[in-house]
Amino acid sequence: MALWEGRFKKELDSKTNDFNSSINIDKRMCKQDIKGSIAHATMLGKQNIIKKEESKKIVNSLEEILKDIENGTLKIDKEAEDIHMFIESELTSRIDDTGKRLHTARSRNDQVTLDLRLYLRDEGKSMINLLKELIKTITEKAKENLETIMPGYTHLQRAQPITFAYHLMAYTEMFMRDICRIEDTLKRMNVNPLGSCALAGTTHDIDRNLTSKLLEFDYPCHNSLDGVSDRDYVIEFSASLSLIMVHLSRLSEEIILWCSWEFKFIELDDAFSTGSSIMPQKKNPDIPELIRGKSGRVFGHLSSLLTMMKGLPLAYNKDMQEDKEAIFDSIDTVKMCITTLIPMLKTMKVLKENMEKAAKKGFINATDCADYLVKKGMPFRKAYKISGSLVSYCLDNNKTLDTLSLEEYKKFTDLFDKDIYESIDLKNIVFKRKSYGGPNPETVKKHIEIIENKL
Ligand code: ARG
Repeated sequence: MALWEGRFKKELDSKTNDFNSSINIDKRMCKQDIKGSIAHATMLGKQNIIKKEESKKIVNSLEEILKDIENGTLKIDKEAEDIHMFIESELTSRIDDTGKRLHTARSRNDQVTLDLRLYLRDEGKSMINLLKELIKTITEKAKENLETIMPGYTHLQRAQPITFAYHLMAYTEMFMRDICRIEDTLKRMNVNPLGSCALAGTTHDIDRNLTSKLLEFDYPCHNSLDGVSDRDYVIEFSASLSLIMVHLSRLSEEIILWCSWEFKFIELDDAFSTGSSIMPQKKNPDIPELIRGKSGRVFGHLSSLLTMMKGLPLAYNKDMQEDKEAIFDSIDTVKMCITTLIPMLKTMKVLKENMEKAAKKGFINATDCADYLVKKGMPFRKAYKISGSLVSYCLDNNKTLDTLSLEEYKKFTDLFDKDIYESIDLKNIVFKRKSYGGPNPETVKKHIEIIENKL
């Protein structure tokens, strides 16, 4: 019989019970639920709302329940409506009337949001650690490629020479921002809703500061109606996870391109690639493709959460039960993506010669050819036009800027001299780009130091 049997004459229809139940999803918050109940029972005892012995008995029994769940002797009952009901009925089955005192001055409405805050707080911290590991992996790869010249792209057209280290380090900035976003979300999330009760607080003399302290919250929420209605923290967390997926997906897209025969900048280790069932020659980048694909479900969950919340009148509505499936699946997905990506990045082979070969084609030193003339006193727009005409001349005559003779250069302007060749040398170009945040290897090394210090 349900906990509300006094008011009801019938049991819940069994199919409706399945529909209504959330135990399969929220059972993963069992530790947090018990932790919250222990703090609540401790406070009830301290405040003499229940007897001290009763409080102790409840706490001891809750600790045993947790132990039994962890060692597998207590199975979570699939028939229970949710984890809160399950733990409470297990408690009453063990210590009877004393257990029935636990829910004094509490509601499932403050309990569920308490559990979820505690759960997401733990997950947020482990997500930050995972991101740090990913960033570390990327910086290690960058260190090995400080002088690996490759073409930088705009519009997926070869644009200017950069290094592979420089390209990789761009991603560390994105993932550092992701860490900051989660830290920021955690700060706002760390407010204690316990004691909000159903929606309007309680007439019992509870101590919300004590439960806040016991559960390491910064302070108790200032308005109980908001305390039980707020799911901003779930949405913020989900938005942070979505941005992580944007970054993972962009990196994956590049890896997929780089693996193709058209680029062949990298080769993934066999342990992180798959073959085709029919084409014997194939080696497919399934992992980055899946990461790119899985971004869709994480974005979808964000959209579900926003839509689920936008029309809800205060305070608790059952719609809100849907929040957990969305955020849990987002967390699982992002974690899985990062943990698979890390070893794949560690083992991928960088084909430096191919990158350099690609950099030699596509006239990516044309800007530097124009800059050469600017340094000799020509206005940039004029220099730009001459450099463009040189490219056009090269295309017509099947040449490149570094294979043109000095006479050919001089036909375009007298300002050209022997030193043009070192000015358009790819390595020189990269080394001379010393502007702050640029691809010069020393500059990138400093960036790596900054990131490593922050970690
Ligand atoms: N399983 C519910 C949820 O996840 C717990 C809160 C239920 N509260 C209620 N008044 N029905 O949202």
